[in-house]
Amino acid sequence: MAEGEDGRGWAPAKAILFGEHAVVYGRPALAIPVHGMSLEVRRQAPGDPGLQEVTAEAWRLLGQEGEPPGVRAASSIPVGAGLGSSAALCVGLLRALSPEPLDPRELARLAHRLEHRFHGTPSGIDTTVVALGRPVWFRRGRPVEELAVGRPLRFLLLDSGERASTAEVVAEVRRRHQEDRANLEALFDALGWIAHSGRRALQEGDEAELGRLMLACHRQLQDLGVSSAGLDRLVERALAAGARGAKLSGAGRGGHVLALVPEGLEIEGGRETRLAGRRAGA
Ligand code: PMV
Repeated sequence: MAEGEDGRGWAPAKAILFGEHAVVYGRPALAIPVHGMSLEVRRQAPGDPGLQEVTAEAWRLLGQEGEPPGVRAASSIPVGAGLGSSAALCVGLLRALSPEPLDPRELARLAHRLEHRFHGTPSGIDTTVVALGRPVWFRRGRPVEELAVGRPLRFLLLDSGERASTAEVVAEVRRRHQEDRANLEALFDALGWIAHSGRRALQEGDEAELGRLMLACHRQLQDLGVSSAGLDRLVERALAAGARGAKLSGAGRGGHVLALVPEGLEIEGGRETRLAGRRAGA
């Protein structure tokens, strides 16, 4: 649906394949859209009072004057679950309010500014992948790259049932970084190198390598202290069931595990999401 046409704005969920947290400290990260879950904002009177302030800010960012219209949102993206619900709200809202279709990169830029109200220092990766709706290679301060996917991939999202605030987990990592800078910088470097190798494996369609790297990423995130017993159990369960790899996705301490699985493999409670194999921009 084109934004602005009928006062509706749609946005998908997202998952981070490599580089969460390290991306806040300038390392690269790779994120994918999750099209099976989405959020839709529509202009409607009376609007949801809980969305009034963010709507006013989005209205201002779009250069509009006067009173913003009322809006309501409907979403199947769980909140605080590492699936980019706040980024989807920002993107959906801007699309619903914009008088004309926005260029995806401009939309990503505005959505990143809007997302600051949800958590203090977002890297911008969530709003970028949600606005572009494609796998992205993201590094703070550099132009975003859309990535090719060498072959179709199938993932399952497994819910730990635990919920955590991204802002709090990011703040805790920041405190640890201040206290133990050398060790955390080494962990961020390792996450960055894993992301580089993961990018290559994704582009080449090397599933075995991609799975191995996802697990390597999870191990680094454990060392960073952002996993949880529930997330670790889900990773082990996915591997035991035959997943090629699995990792927590997003800020951690709760939320979802992303498992790369072969066709036909089911894991109880798993929600499927697929990446089509295609060239970047195709
Ligand atoms: O938990 P989520 O979906 O909000 O993911 C946040 C990703 C972080 O790297 C932890 C933070 C950020 O701003 O990039």
